[in-house]
Amino acid sequence: MVRNMFEFQPSLKNKDGHLLFDNINVEDLVKEFDTPLYLISEKRIRDKYRTLHDILIQDYDKIRIYYAAKANSNLNVLKILRTEGAYLDAVSPGEIFLALKAGFLPERILFTGTSVRTDELNFIADSQVTVNIDSYSELNRLLNHMIPKTLSVRINPKIGSGHHDHCITAGPETKFGLWEEVTLKTYQKAKEVGVEKFGIHMHIGSGILKIESILLAFNNLLSMAKKIRDKINITFEFIDMGGGLGVPYKPQEKEIDLTLFSKKILSLFKRKITEYNLGNPFFCLEPGRYLVSDSSILLTSVNTIKVTPFKKFVGVDVGFNTLLRPSMYGSYHHILVANKLNSPKNQIYDVVGPICESGDVIAKNRQLPMVEEGDLLAILNAGAYGFAMSSQYNSRPRAAEVLIKDKKYFLSRKRETFNSLLLNQQIEK
Ligand code: LLP
Repeated sequence: MVRNMFEFQPSLKNKDGHLLFDNINVEDLVKEFDTPLYLISEKRIRDKYRTLHDILIQDYDKIRIYYAAKANSNLNVLKILRTEGAYLDAVSPGEIFLALKAGFLPERILFTGTSVRTDELNFIADSQVTVNIDSYSELNRLLNHMIPKTLSVRINPKIGSGHHDHCITAGPETKFGLWEEVTLKTYQKAKEVGVEKFGIHMHIGSGILKIESILLAFNNLLSMAKKIRDKINITFEFIDMGGGLGVPYKPQEKEIDLTLFSKKILSLFKRKITEYNLGNPFFCLEPGRYLVSDSSILLTSVNTIKVTPFKKFVGVDVGFNTLLRPSMYGSYHHILVANKLNSPKNQIYDVVGPICESGDVIAKNRQLPMVEEGDLLAILNAGAYGFAMSSQYNSRPRAAEVLIKDKKYFLSRKRETFNSLLLNQQIEK
């Protein structure tokens, strides 16, 4: 069944053909803040966190939800999730810096890097953040600096999955995680030098709507945990299944049945920790996209309509500098004409941006109402890997972000200006 996208993003409402976001008319917000503009719903983020938490906790009482900050590291988003009780998954010293600014305690942050510099590793260790090791060299360099009390290892559970090849992070092709021999060597060494508490981690990919691959990979991770337990006599403080929970972007896609997912993954977990004598570890997961994707829309103004012998183009002020996903992964983002919600969708357009590359396409062959210059488009599901992946390419200042909370709104990130383009540049005299 093809669903109406309004069902997926409950912050959206249609009032006489005009789009409301958390009950605020988006055209009014654009009058005040201009476009491109990211809108973030605080309510939706809180609802998503609570839904996930409340489902998981029914199946196991020691859970930790680490928010994957890479999806959206806006300080207010981090603060909202901190106040919900989330932990935090960081992939760079910069994300740790922002998380600390947003009030996360270091002991609630897990750093999962890859190709980590020694000075970064030292900074992370000094910040008292738990490190999730991604190579044997990383372990040795960390130990040269200090012996952490707690340490985790990212393993490669042999099975990967994801919405695009770029987003598959386990299995034979990927740079991520440790394979069996090095995994055992790493835990052995860490134990010998006096590390006291241990975690084990995987992250197999992103944008996964079919949960079977996560279950198979997690089963492999638990078998590896047993080997480590048997050979090195380690019990685990926590076992982390990583992130990857997908969300529907297209009307015909289905949401993951979270209750079913929770039942399946946690019954596997409980069965195996008993069978393998793995103690009483925390069950951890690291959702990014699931928590924030449908909390946001991206508003863009229509600059030009161009009709060629082959196509009709709607030229907008969002390009891949503002939303990279369509160009980078061919990702689908649903589009509404925010001021024409009741008009019949009787046209086919390519929606394209202002960047001087032909790959600057936000949507291809999209059925929309008749679009005119001055119309306002809303790009849905823009909260995960939207602003976070934006750039100043073509020397375009980055977009503004507005947070909506209880019918009030707040400029969470000012629009960049031409001066932002000068930042840190020096002219040789
Ligand atoms: N944990 C680790 C170690 C990760 O590397 C990631 C994402 C996550 C958790 C969160 O994954 P999520 O729950 O959001 O799927 N830019 C791509 C997604 C890249 C994800 C990278 N790692 C996109 O726009 O689809």
